[in-house]
Amino acid sequence: MARPFPNPFGKLLLVSLVLAVWPKSGSAFAQTAKGDAARGFEALTSRSFVPGQFPRAQIDNAWKLWGLPEKPANYAELFRERYGLAEAPYANNGLPMGLKTSKMPLGTDGASLDCLTCHGGSLLGKPFPGLGNTMLDLQAIFEELSSRGTKAMRTPYTFCNTRGTNEAGATSVYLAGLRNPDLTLRLPWRNLGLHDDLCEDVPAWWHLKRKKTMYATAEADARSVRSIMQFMMHPLNLPGAFEREQAAFRDIQAWIFSVEAPKWPWELDREKVARGQILHKQHCAKCHGTKDQYPNKVIPLEEIGTDTTRYMGIESAFGDFYNQSWFSRELDGWFGEGYKAQRSGGYQAPPLDGIWATAPYLHNGSVPTLEALLNSGTRPTVFTRSFRTHPEDYDQEKLGWKTTIPMGPSPTTPIDARRIYDTSKPGRGNKGHTYGDILSPAERSDLIEFLKSL
Ligand code: HEC
Ligand code: HEC
Repeated sequence: MARPFPNPFGKLLLVSLVLAVWPKSGSAFAQTAKGDAARGFEALTSRSFVPGQFPRAQIDNAWKLWGLPEKPANYAELFRERYGLAEAPYANNGLPMGLKTSKMPLGTDGASLDCLTCHGGSLLGKPFPGLGNTMLDLQAIFEELSSRGTKAMRTPYTFCNTRGTNEAGATSVYLAGLRNPDLTLRLPWRNLGLHDDLCEDVPAWWHLKRKKTMYATAEADARSVRSIMQFMMHPLNLPGAFEREQAAFRDIQAWIFSVEAPKWPWELDREKVARGQILHKQHCAKCHGTKDQYPNKVIPLEEIGTDTTRYMGIESAFGDFYNQSWFSRELDGWFGEGYKAQRSGGYQAPPLDGIWATAPYLHNGSVPTLEALLNSGTRPTVFTRSFRTHPEDYDQEKLGWKTTIPMGPSPTTPIDARRIYDTSKPGRGNKGHTYGDILSPAERSDLIEFLKSL
């Protein structure tokens, strides 16, 4: 396959890569936090960086859109289940993790989304800030909670096509279309190449400290604080707010670097682990590295063979905007140039520590278990799951979420339709990454036992 489109930032990238003074690949590299992790967690869990998006009254009365005759007694629990949010493991004014008290533009009580809407998951029934939220239905949140009554709102683009994945990239592209490079507002909205079918699976935060580049496509420098401030482009945030909040985001980044992978909570067969470690070294480590060494490899699209929609879906128009804008001008960048967006040509092979806890797999969450990832012929083409994370929802043999094949008539509501992952739909292909296919069933089982131990 030819390169998907010309490299818009070619020269800059080349210069940056040649001059970059990273430790040699293979050394035990770790990012250094420039902020304060404790303050970062405080900011993450108590501060709102955008104005209220959802009226509090609507949050308290959303049941009226659910077809119920009256407010159920266990409303808080049903609310979390409907939208796919975990309980907040910190004081949060009665709101679940991922919603935060925030005044509406006219001063009434409301709530807004925050980083933990997508980055606050749940594991074996317990909330886990820093784990991707694979239960989330962001479309339902926007449609039902931003309305003021009993009719769902229409959204300017799709926030989520399939439950558990979301359109974070489209959100950046949409919001950037309302800004000039100096972050003053611009109207009318400019289309920088909006695609809302990238179906992104949220990565676990404990990998970031080991990475040199971030996002599935390695398009940003993992040290960039400004890159993770993109959602602040909410049109009601004034340009000065970005500069003012950068210190808070430096702290948030420090907290992200401090997140650790969870340990496998059940028994391990040590003999199998030892055999699996050898297989991992033979078949996987050159791309994914080991616990101590992470090579930060990007594999070209044609070689990895996974769905290309995510890669193609962020266009040069957005990259150009980004590289002209405030976001790319962080002073401690490569020789003061800043952290530019770059074209990498493929997908980054992520570290595999804590991999047992981050199902579903691949950048689009198209493969529900590790067993299916390592045996491509067995990957389900259409599946659904409970969208709960209790021990009974977890498959300890295959490593991942238990799935079923949807039966019976097609769902009649969009919320039910989003519970079905159909790998024939755009952005949802489950092909590629066939490196486990040559293993025998016994070898695969050994390798999986080893992966549990990471
Ligand atoms: C709408 C959901 C959503 C929200 C809200 C969100 N993120 Fe993300 N985030 C994602 C997705 C999806 C990715 C993966 C993007 C990709 O690679 O395609 C991601 C990637 C990242 C990464 C890179 C991780 C890696 O290893 O590559 C960081 C860091 C990050 N987000 C930080 C933040 C911070 C900080 C906030 C709050 C300001 C935030 N995110 C808000 C969905 C979200
Ligand atoms: C040639 C490089 C390469 C080899 C060899 C390789 N991988 Fe990967 N792997 C990748 C890349 C690149 C991705 C990301 C692909 C994507 O998301 O589209 C990936 C993704 C994964 C994921 C999904 C990660 C996530 O968070 O969703 C797992 C799990 C994984 N690989 C395990 C393995 C195992 C186990 C082996 C050995 C049998 C292996 N890989 C061999 C390059 C490789």
